[in-house]
Formats: sequence, structure tokens, C-alpha cells
Amino acid sequence: MTPYRAIAFSGSLRDGSSNTALVRMAQRLAPPQLAVEIIDWLDQLPWMNPDLEPDPPAILQQWWTALRDADALIVGMPEYNWSPTPLAKNALDWATRPPDDRAIAGTAVAFLSAAGRGGGANAQANLTTILGYLGAHMVEEPPVRLSSVADRLRADGTTDDPEIEEAVRAKMEAVVEALRARDAAATDTAPEA
Ligand SMILES: Cc1cc2nc3c(=O)[nH]c(=O)nc-3n(C[C@H](O)[C@H](O)[C@H](O)COP(=O)(O)O)c2cc1C
Repeated sequence: MTPYRAIAFSGSLRDGSSNTALVRMAQRLAPPQLAVEIIDWLDQLPWMNPDLEPDPPAILQQWWTALRDADALIVGMPEYNWSPTPLAKNALDWATRPPDDRAIAGTAVAFLSAAGRGGGANAQANLTTILGYLGAHMVEEPPVRLSSVADRLRADGTTDDPEIEEAVRAKMEAVVEALRARDAAATDTAPEA
């Protein structure tokens, strides 16, 4: 069977970012049924401006195409001031466009956060609600909200902490389960031939 396709990005531009490390870990630990491609060019997107939509720049078309071609989106989601980082918010706002054919509709979305005390819960919360409302399949369980783990993550996505690996592995398995459930539901509702 062809694996499901996921794209993944980190909401942090920082060298040595914990969230970039989580994305790399997700790619390494995803089950064989999920192929994860990391993309690192979303900082090139223009700032959200609906005026650009009638004649979208190439990079925006590239983002929309990448989303439409993927079954799943994995986001390494840092938290800045109780919110997603500007990079993550901008990329996800564009993912909800255009309003009559949202690029993110039907995509399974999973957040992985390494942040401060709250583990990124605030950054995940309102986007989880709104992206679900706009048609994404939010994979909320099991949550990956890690507090103060920077000293336990290496930039290449490895760690000596088995609990972190287990949390990320379980999340990737949950993404596959969500996609299987999506496909089963589509089969159930397909009209008889
Ligand atoms: C401007 C700024 C605001 C931050 N606000 C929060 C916050 O509200 N909650 C939190 O848990 N951590 C907060 N942090 C800490 C970051 O989440 C933490 O440094 C995290 O490791 C950043 O992710 P990265 O390692 O992937 O760059 C903040 C950091 C910065 C730079």
C-alpha cells in the first residue's frame, strides 16, 4: 500500500529550535504508513493579504498545492506570548484560503509543541478549534505539549529521552488512524456504483 503523505513544518526559525527538532523526530519515527516530507520555505510566504488571492504569487500556489497533495500536515508549534509564532499563524491563515476552496480542508493536522511551562497549549488551542471548524481533521489526541525540553532535544531530532520519542511516535500513529477513519467514512458515504 502506498503510504499516506504528510508535509511538516516548524513554526520556529531559530537555529537549534526545539520545534524543528520535534518535526525531524516525527519524520524519523513516523510509521511506514506515513511518509513525512519537511518543508522549510514557509517564511517566504507573503504576509496574509487577501488582495493577493486573485493572482496568487508562486510561493503561495506552491503552499496550496503542497497542502492539497498531502493527506496530513504536521506542525512544530512554538508558543510566543500565548500564541502561535507569526510564521505558523501566517502559514496556517493562508492554508484556510481561498474561502470557497480552502487548501487545508480534509487535511489531518497534528501539532507538536516544545515551549515553556504550558507546553504550547495556548498556541495550539484556538487554531485547533478554528481549523477543525474550517474542515481540517484535527488530531488532538494524544497531545504533544512538552515543557522546557530544550536540553533534551538535539537539532537532528534525536533525544535520549524515551518519553519524548514515545509521545511523538504515538502522535504519528494517531495521524495514520485519523486518516484511516477518514477513508473509512468516505467509503461508507460513497454512493453505490
Ligand atoms: C517572544 C517570545 C515569547 C514567548 N512566549 C512564550 C509563552 O507565552 N509561553 C511559553 O510556553 N513559552 C514562551 N516562549 C518560550 C518559547 O516557547 C521557547 O523558547 C521555545 O523553545 C521556542 O521554540 P523553539 O526552540 O522551537 O524556537 C516565548 C519565547 C519568545 C522568544
